[in-house]
Amino acid sequence: MTAASPTARVIVTGAGSGIGRATAVRIAAEGGHVVAADLDPARLDDLVGQCGEEAVTALAGDITEPETVRRIVAAAGGRIDGLANVAGIMDGFPPPSEVDDAVWDRVLGINLTATMRLTRAVLPAMIEAGHGSIVNVASEAALRGSAAGPTITGIDGGMRSAYAAGRGGPVMQATMPAPAAPGQVAASIVWLLSDDATNINGVVLPSDGGWSVA
Ligand SMILES: NC(=O)c1ccc[n+]([C@@H]2O[C@H](COP(=O)([O-])OP(=O)(O)OC[C@H]3O[C@@H](n4cnc5c(N)ncnc54)[C@H](O)[C@@H]3O)[C@@H](O)[C@H]2O)c1
Repeated sequence: MTAASPTARVIVTGAGSGIGRATAVRIAAEGGHVVAADLDPARLDDLVGQCGEEAVTALAGDITEPETVRRIVAAAGGRIDGLANVAGIMDGFPPPSEVDDAVWDRVLGINLTATMRLTRAVLPAMIEAGHGSIVNVASEAALRGSAAGPTITGIDGGMRSAYAAGRGGPVMQATMPAPAAPGQVAASIVWLLSDDATNINGVVLPSDGGWSVA
């Protein structure tokens, strides 16, 4: 992923769209190999078409299913230099009073539980190799009480709560910076995965156009 490690092998979830795709494309462009995981096989085909089979191994499946996690790790073939947990969904911005169990279970299943399971699954290979990097992508809302975007991707960021739209929408609009391109976020992810960041651990790095300090 850097000139120092042109043969790096990195798992990227959500590689079919948006930030995950930009991350996969950048790793491939820097000489690494991507195990690209996504729910949508057509998106993965498109990624392989852009980057080439020598740079991308496509793995279609739902990362909330343990069998998909097993297949992703198997596809890496024993060498895993990095894991980028990028796949994720939004919840429609309901306030806690409106969150239903189906939305809660779905969001946590994809955004949190699958991230933990993939992390758990890659660690044996990383520990044996004595190196490896893991980057998790989260919303701005992980840093403070509210957020959405703004990176222009395929994500469904619509507000499905009239209450939240009326109360929080105007506040978000007033403080929100100009939307970023997926490649701007991918640049930070790839840097954290790279050999240039081997002395960095446990850092939370906002890539948000300054929103977190507004
Ligand atoms: N775009 C933003 O402004 C924004 C804001 C907050 C958080 N995020 C986070 O950034 C990450 C990337 O989002 P994005 O904006 O690029 O979204 P995106 O919708 O463009 O891409 C996400 C990809 O993840 C895949 N995916 C979803 N559920 C999956 C599952 N169960 N198994 C396998 N693949 C699955 C989708 O098919 C899609 O290709 C997510 O974790 C998201 O929560 C993005």
